[in-house]
This record gives sequence, structure tokens and C-alpha cells, in this order.
Amino acid sequence: MENVLITGGTSGIGYALARVFAANKYNVIIVSSNYENLKIAQQKLQEEFPVTITIMEQDLSQLKAAEKLYNNIQAEKIDIDILVNNAGYGLVGRTEEIDFYGDENMMILNMISLVELCKLFLPNMYEKQRGKILNVSSTGAFQPGPFTSTYFASKAFVLSYSKAIRFEAQKRGIQVCTLCPGATKTNFFVREGTKTPRISMSAEKVAEYAYRQLIKNKSIFIPGFINRAMQVFPTNIKMFSIARMKKE
Ligand SMILES: NC(=O)c1ccc[n+]([C@@H]2O[C@H](COP(=O)([O-])OP(=O)(O)OC[C@H]3O[C@@H](n4cnc5c(N)ncnc54)[C@H](OP(=O)(O)O)[C@@H]3O)[C@@H](O)[C@H]2O)c1
Repeated sequence: MENVLITGGTSGIGYALARVFAANKYNVIIVSSNYENLKIAQQKLQEEFPVTITIMEQDLSQLKAAEKLYNNIQAEKIDIDILVNNAGYGLVGRTEEIDFYGDENMMILNMISLVELCKLFLPNMYEKQRGKILNVSSTGAFQPGPFTSTYFASKAFVLSYSKAIRFEAQKRGIQVCTLCPGATKTNFFVREGTKTPRISMSAEKVAEYAYRQLIKNKSIFIPGFINRAMQVFPTNIKMFSIARMKKE
């Protein structure tokens, strides 16, 4: 059985992805910063699917956290076939109003830990000549986000980085794919302190779509026709609409 490591696998898109992988007979290792959340998710998944669900508590918003997680995986002798870098959150406000260290932690989680996990797991994948990485970006990657500036910029970074390493990895038989969800009904907006948009997709639909595209080795995938269609709007229009949503 193959093993998939999912960061942020306790809720929302990450949990829905854990369900889809478990349903497709993968052993799943879920990572989050909260042990209680991990135990609950593990129990629910274990009740539903006859695969091994392993939990690892790691706050990935701290420097060196990626290395600690990698070392724990190595210590447990788990061979990772698919790495899903999903953990992430957003912060809203004018840039100088967003808490200085809170923003720093978010940028570490959304970018630095993601990059470091790719750098740590890719050599093992190259050695085996087999493996996949799925990085979770956002439709926020396609234009700047006023009043959520660092979050949108972090997702643009994820998209650019993932496209670059896909180029590097594809000749060596390793897949790197990027999921760019639009608004999705998860804890994301609750944590951010904004209203969940009415047009939001369910995390289950996003995860099922993402799994299918990953298996087909698509480079970048946006779940939902409306989310794909919205990308043809001019950048300025999209920025006005984001500013309105985030300021409310
Ligand atoms: N929902 C949307 O509209 C939307 C749209 C585009 C992209 N995305 C992206 O989708 C990804 C998943 O978000 P979601 O919408 O599913 O939100 P969510 O329900 O809040 O899930 C976030 C996950 O990340 C984990 N996490 C948060 N902080 C962490 C930390 N410091 N260390 C390790 N894990 C941490 C959370 O677990 P714990 O709290 O237990 O640590 C949880 O499992 C994110 O990268 C987000 O940016 C979401």
C-alpha cells in the first residue's frame, strides 16, 4: 500500500483529501498543529476506512518544523509516495495592521515549510524514481489581494515555485502538481474572520476533483467552472472585488 502525507489533514480540504486517499486504499499520515484535532480526525477516518491512519503533531508555522516532521517520518520508517502540502491559512487587514509575528508565522507555514518539505522529500522520490507532490495554492495566486496581501502573495509564491520544480522533476519521473481552489466551505473563513462567500464549493468536491487531476498528472488545476471562468476577468476588477470582500 502506498503512503500519502497530508499537512493540515484535520479539517477542510486536507481532511477531505485524506478521505479520498483512504477510500482509494492509501495509508494516510496527517499532520496538524493540534493533537486533539488529530485524534478526532484519526478516529473518524479509521472508523470509515480499512487503511492505516497515522497522526503527527507539528506546528509548521515555526522555522525548522519541516525538518522535525521529516525526521519523525524517517524515525517511523514510513516511505512517503505522495506529499500533499495543504496546511495554510490567511490573515486580513491593511498590511501594517496585520500582527507582525502572526504574519511571519503564516508566511513560514504557507511558503517556507512547504518549500522545505519538497526539498526534503524529493531526493527520496528521485532515488525510488517514483513519487508525487501536490501543493495547495489558491485562485488568490492569480492576482494580488488587497487587505489580504501576504496571504495572496504566499499563494502566488506556491504556484510559481511548484511550476518551477515540476519542470525540474518531470524528466526524473516525479510529478509536481498545484491545486488552486477558489472559495471553499471550510474553517478558513472562520479563522480569517470574514464571511464564507455564498458561491463556495464543498471541500469534498474540491478534494475529489483534485485527486482525479493529480492522478492524470495535470500541472495546475482549479476546481469549479465559475472559479475557472473568473480568471478571465481583468486583474483590477478582481482586486476591487477582493478588497470589498476582505474589508467588510
Ligand atoms: N477554504 C478556501 O476558500 C480556500 C481557498 C483557496 C485555498 N485554500 C487553501 O487550502 C488549504 C487548506 O485550507 P482549508 O480551507 O481546508 O482550511 P481549514 O479547514 O482551516 O484547514 C487548515 C488545515 O491546516 C492546519 N494547520 C493550520 N495551521 C497549522 C500549523 N501551524 N501547522 C500545521 N498545520 C496547520 C489545520 O489544522 P490545525 O488547526 O489542527 O493545526 C487544518 O488541518 C490552505 O492552504 C488554504 O490556504 C483554501
